[in-house]
Amino acid sequence: MTIRTISTPGFNDQKPGTSGLRKRVKVFQQPHYLENFVQSVFDTVQIPAGATIVLGGDGRFYNREAIQVILKMAAANGVGRVLVGQAGILSTPAESCVIRKYQAFGGMVLSASHNPGGPEGDFGIKFNIQNGGPAPEKITEAIFERAKQLREYRILEAADIELDQLGTYALGDMQVEVIDAVRDYADLMEEIFDFAAIKALFAAGFRMKFDAMHAVTGPYAREIFIRRLGAPADSIMNANPLPDFGGGHPDPNLTYAHELVEILYGAQAPEFGAASDGDGDRNMILGKHFFVTPSDSLAIIAANATCIRGYRDGIAGVARSMPTSGAVDRVAKALNIPCFETPTGWKFFGNLMDAGKVTLCGEESFGTSSSHVREKDGLWAVLCWLNILAVKRLSVEQIVMAHWREFGRNVYSRLDYEDLPVSQANQLMQHVTEQFTHLPCQQLGSYRVHACDNFSYTDPIDGSVSRNQGLRILFEDGSRIVIRLSGTGTEGATLRIYLEAYEPDTSRHALDAQELLKELIKIALNLTQLQAITGRDKPTVIT
Ligand code: G1P
Ligand code: ZN
Repeated sequence: MTIRTISTPGFNDQKPGTSGLRKRVKVFQQPHYLENFVQSVFDTVQIPAGATIVLGGDGRFYNREAIQVILKMAAANGVGRVLVGQAGILSTPAESCVIRKYQAFGGMVLSASHNPGGPEGDFGIKFNIQNGGPAPEKITEAIFERAKQLREYRILEAADIELDQLGTYALGDMQVEVIDAVRDYADLMEEIFDFAAIKALFAAGFRMKFDAMHAVTGPYAREIFIRRLGAPADSIMNANPLPDFGGGHPDPNLTYAHELVEILYGAQAPEFGAASDGDGDRNMILGKHFFVTPSDSLAIIAANATCIRGYRDGIAGVARSMPTSGAVDRVAKALNIPCFETPTGWKFFGNLMDAGKVTLCGEESFGTSSSHVREKDGLWAVLCWLNILAVKRLSVEQIVMAHWREFGRNVYSRLDYEDLPVSQANQLMQHVTEQFTHLPCQQLGSYRVHACDNFSYTDPIDGSVSRNQGLRILFEDGSRIVIRLSGTGTEGATLRIYLEAYEPDTSRHALDAQELLKELIKIALNLTQLQAITGRDKPTVIT
């Protein structure tokens, strides 16, 4: 078999965002586009000759084609062995699990997470390092620089590999092993959680509904919930992965997972509901007629971690992204463990976990996980809740209310304005920043401004600095408004406004978050001049 060297023009737009390179499928389908990025990764990370890497994606449109290209390029670049998920599919947390379990050099994750799929949808690619987590910024920056300069790439001339059958295949001098990652992942879950206790919960008639949203977690959910935990077959829905996610938007939130939300708020609602996203790293937790915010979910898992076998000796520390509510900070304080505040994106948690400083991490964007992998993990979060419910035998609502009684409630909401013209989004950010000099000490309604800044983070382990991570308006009573632009979109700009107010008064805990945040939302809309600048009178998504 011959290795061909092919010319590429180099591309100026291959800058990885919050989570890898994400573009429209059509952009990836341009000649040399995918190859240019993959060669830039190989050149940057310098995989030692003969090393093993892991490869898999969320099964979206273009996954199979991309896998075949990457395999042939890996063979031409001296990789020794590639572990590929069966049919080219691996959930993001399963890929992280496999990289760690088989001590691979790293892996490529093909996903655009919760972004819609199909020929008109999005595709993405991300490099994960040896610890199983996303490559840190200094690597992604170097890949971006390389992608601009690149003039040629190497690829093996060979027939496609059979991806549907488990087994080992040769591709030039490289070995391709098609693996069953559902088993590896389910085994890891069985080590962490008390499956016998959860099995007993289902045997006692407990009902749940898990929505895989026609994305990657269907087969994992079937193996774990139905086969291993004995839940009734109708406990999972939309469990067959489809390349276009059935035309849906595979993002587990109150807007996009409405089918599940209607069931959980309906007359015959089960006790527990959950959903996961395109690549299986996000989670949404629902009780009967009850929504648990991701920030509260993280805090509640932290507070109850010792109910779970894998964490029965306690947790070393916690970390949350800056926009995530401070609910977990209060738990950390009570447990006397450290709590870190990082920029948005999972890649900032890796160093803290590797150094043993934190066990649990989370983001307000429906992401929670622990040091068992180096990605967020949707099904892990669902199992945390099931394990806690199995031990406590209380309803989801009772658990949350009891938590708020003990720690107070960090009332929280996020407003997203999707698909804005980039110029308007920048103008709005600029307009807010300009007010930073005179805002401190001003009284805005019942809130008094304490400080404002553009969040900047110094990694406590390697000292690297990440600036411009979001505008913060901090009030004296601990309430906050945070404003940032999304780094995962593929077209236009998405503006996110995060609102948080602390409510210690138990008599107000049952009130609706939108009601409790009404005044803060008004202040945010006024400060940003959102309607005047963008013409929008309501958000695209409210969570
Ligand atoms: C969003 C979320 C962020 C998450 C990322 C990847 O990024 O806000 O917390 O880590 O997706 O799932 P954003 O679009 O805000 O940059
Ligand atoms: Zn995802």
